[in-house]
Formats: sequence, structure tokens, C-alpha cells
Amino acid sequence: MPSSNPTIVIFGASGDLTRRKLVPALYNLYQKHRLPTDFRIVGYARSDMTSEVFRSAMREAVIEFATLDEPTWASFASRLYYVCGQYDDPAGFENLRTILARLEPEGAGRLYYLSTPPKLYATIVQCLGTAQMTGEKQSWRRVVIEKPFGQDLASAQELNRSVHTVLDEKQIYRIDHYLGKETVQNLLVFRFANAIFEPIWNRNYISNVQITAAESVDVAHRAGYYDGVGVLRDMFQNHLMQLLALTSMEPPASFDADALRNEKVKVFAAIRPYTTEEVAYRTVRGQYRTYRDAEGVAPRSETPTYAALQISIDNWRWQGVPFYLRSGKALQAKTTEIVIRFKRPPHMMFPIPAEDKLRSNYLAICVQPDEGIHLRFEAKQPDTAAGMRSVDMEFHYDEAFGPRAIPEAYERLLLDALNGDAALFTRADEIELSWRLMDSVLRGWESPQAAPLAFYESGSWGPDEADKLLARDNHHWTQGCSHTPTTP
Ligand code: BG6
Repeated sequence: MPSSNPTIVIFGASGDLTRRKLVPALYNLYQKHRLPTDFRIVGYARSDMTSEVFRSAMREAVIEFATLDEPTWASFASRLYYVCGQYDDPAGFENLRTILARLEPEGAGRLYYLSTPPKLYATIVQCLGTAQMTGEKQSWRRVVIEKPFGQDLASAQELNRSVHTVLDEKQIYRIDHYLGKETVQNLLVFRFANAIFEPIWNRNYISNVQITAAESVDVAHRAGYYDGVGVLRDMFQNHLMQLLALTSMEPPASFDADALRNEKVKVFAAIRPYTTEEVAYRTVRGQYRTYRDAEGVAPRSETPTYAALQISIDNWRWQGVPFYLRSGKALQAKTTEIVIRFKRPPHMMFPIPAEDKLRSNYLAICVQPDEGIHLRFEAKQPDTAAGMRSVDMEFHYDEAFGPRAIPEAYERLLLDALNGDAALFTRADEIELSWRLMDSVLRGWESPQAAPLAFYESGSWGPDEADKLLARDNHHWTQGCSHTPTTP
């Protein structure tokens, strides 16, 4: 249970994230009795409205994105307040400070949640500092910063530098909602609470690792934000790199935030940034054909809506094992999965035709939508001499834990931030190393040697070039979480 009768201050309270995710998640936590009995939520934004109007907007949000129970809502709503103010105006922050002092009991902890456009993050932190709202003499003060954290390495470094003038790193919680997903956290349990996988989790047994975050939606109404940002900044720098880190890092000594993050940092440090030549043959960037027709997209936009990268981790465990990462919009299906492809058996003792090579086993970690884990292996086809077929051993969350067992990612993250547990939040050095790699790709794509943007049809699995990226290494993309077998 979070300590110190906390106040949650949401900057950007009139925005979409507050409505869709933050308030419904806080409401769910309240309903599950996970929040302390004494807490309050104060929304802060530029829109002029009263606390009453804010409450009724949030009620609509809970109806839409959670399940409203009237008595629970009434008691939750009585803890909601709204303060109108500018993000760069010291007077607004003075006003907020006065109101908080009136609402809070002595010694209340405070979580500031920055859910505003990213260009305001540094300004808000500076204003909090000027208004002396970040000192921890009376109780804890923490700041949650939404993504994107920077646009490239230089801007991320600058943002880190700026927030560090006001806050200690320990007060900063950089959010990546993928780390709030149950299946992503389960990667740690799967790898480190079971003894049977660790011995084979290395270059001796694994041939390649594939991480896919495919989305069927296109950028449609988000074009204004997306154009010029693109898939690398939107999905790779944060979500895919986190999946890569949890899949490949060494076992941390404990679940302590720094022990865990130190291991992630070591793995990122073991990935060399690409040279321009490498970008040309180890990465693919694509755009779905109708992207440029969308409102808000530049007519000749080069923004990639799809990318595939081949990443090498230069350490003892992973030397020679390619990690293939891909993500895109307007693809055939929404699926996020990590597929560990094992090596083929070294010798064929069965009398099968030479052209029928033995298939390799794989393990698929299904992050979403059908959360679970599948293990693909060969079985003898009954009533044949030595016929074989690939079969699956499957674990599904809904079968094992019941339907709706998986909470929204933001619930875990908000609770952890309130509890002061930063394990599922990204540290300054982690963010910067991840940007270092992304910068090298972006530089390569801008260079004259870059391969041209590859176009793909909406509803496909991306450009052919992405298949060629793996074919060159004698591999192919595997959809390990679909119900229909896709062997070989
Ligand atoms: C966000 C990206 O961070 O993640 C979006 O900005 C993307 O473009 C979303 O759609 C995907 O999240 P999820 O949880 O639906 O996989």
C-alpha cells in the first residue's frame, strides 16, 4: 500500500491519456482497494473548467474505459480536483502550491505526472523547482515523465540535464507502458524463476531471436504527431528495446530497481551503434502505400511506418546470434511477440527425404493480444514409420488465471511509482544508450548510401525487403503466437 497519504497531480489533465488511461487505471486501483484510504488526485491543465466539470468528464471516461460502480465512483470522485493554469507561468504553480497545501494533510507524498506534450516536460520541472515543490524535506516528491523522452540522443541528454538541475535521478520515473504489461514482466519470472531455460538461453542453443510489434491500425488521426517521428522513435527506442533488454540481459542479483536496470544498461552498452554502411544492409524502413494520403502527412513524407533491424549483441552469451526487431502500422494483424528460435538438431537419424530438413524448435512469448507462451516442437505422426509434424505446447493466461486477469499496464506502473519502486521505469543512462543506437540508424537512413524507403500494402506483413533481411542469414520471420501453424 503506498505510503504517506499521497497526492497525484496530473499535468495535462484535460488530455487524452488522462481520460483513456490514467484516471480509469486509478479508479480500478481504488476499486481493488490498492490505494491508501487517504489520497487525492489534482488535475492541472490550461483548459478553463471547474472541479465539478472535471469530475463529470472523468466519470464519462470511467464509463468508457473501466466499469463504473456508482457508490465507488461517488467516493472516488470526491477526491478529484481540478486547477487551471499555464505550464510556464510561475503564478500558476504558486496557485497550485497554495491549493495543495489546503488539500493535503501534513507529510503527504506527491506524485507529479507529466502527461503533456513532450516539449513542456523541461519547463514544468523547472517551474516545479522554482515554486519549491520538489524538495523532499516533508515527504517524497516524484515525477513521472511520459514518452517520448527526447527526439534523439542530443535532446534526450539535454532533457536529462535539465531535469537533473531540479530533481535527483531517484525522483524521476520515465514511463514505458510496455514494462507495465503483465506478459513483459513475466519475461523476468519465466527466465529467472525457472531453472530449465537458463542453461539453453545462449548462443550454444539459440539460432536467432525475433521481436515483433505489429499493429493493424494505421496512423490516421495521429498523423500530426506521427509524421516526422516515425516508427523508430515511436516504437523501437522505447518498447522494442525494452523487450530486447529483458530477453537478453544477464540475471540480476535481485529485483531491486538498480540491480535490474544495471543489467539492461550492460546489454545496451554491448550493442554497437551501426555504421552508415551497416544501416544499408542490416535495416529496412518501409511506409504503407496510402500513408501520404492521410491528412497532416507531408505529400513527400519519408517517415517510416515500418522498420526491421538486425541487431548484434557483442558479448559472450549472444555472439553470433542475430536479434531481428520489426514493427509497423497498417499490418495484417495486431500482435506483439518474442520468438526464440533454437538451433536444428545436429544430426538427422530419421529416414526422411534429404530436402525435408529437420525443423528447429521455437519458443514464442506472446505479449498480446492472446497472452501466453507457446513451445513448438516435433512429434511423431501416428501410424507412420518416421513421419513428423510440428506441434505446440501452449500456455494461455485466460485459461490459467481466468478471463480478465490481466490489468491495464498503467495500474501496475502508477502503483509502483506511488510505492517508490522504479524497477519498471527507465533510467537516464538506459534511455541515452537506446537513443545512441537509434541515432545511428536515423543517420544511416539520411545518408546518400541509404536504401530507398520500401513501400508495402496495408494489411500485409510489411515490405519484401524485411523478408530478405532474414533470408540472407537463412532465417525467416516466424509468427509464433497465431493459432494456425506457420511452419516451417
Ligand atoms: C505507443 C505508440 O507508445 O504504443 C503508439 O505511440 C502505439 O503508436 C502504441 O500504437 C502501442 O501500444 P500497445 O500497448 O497497443 O501495443
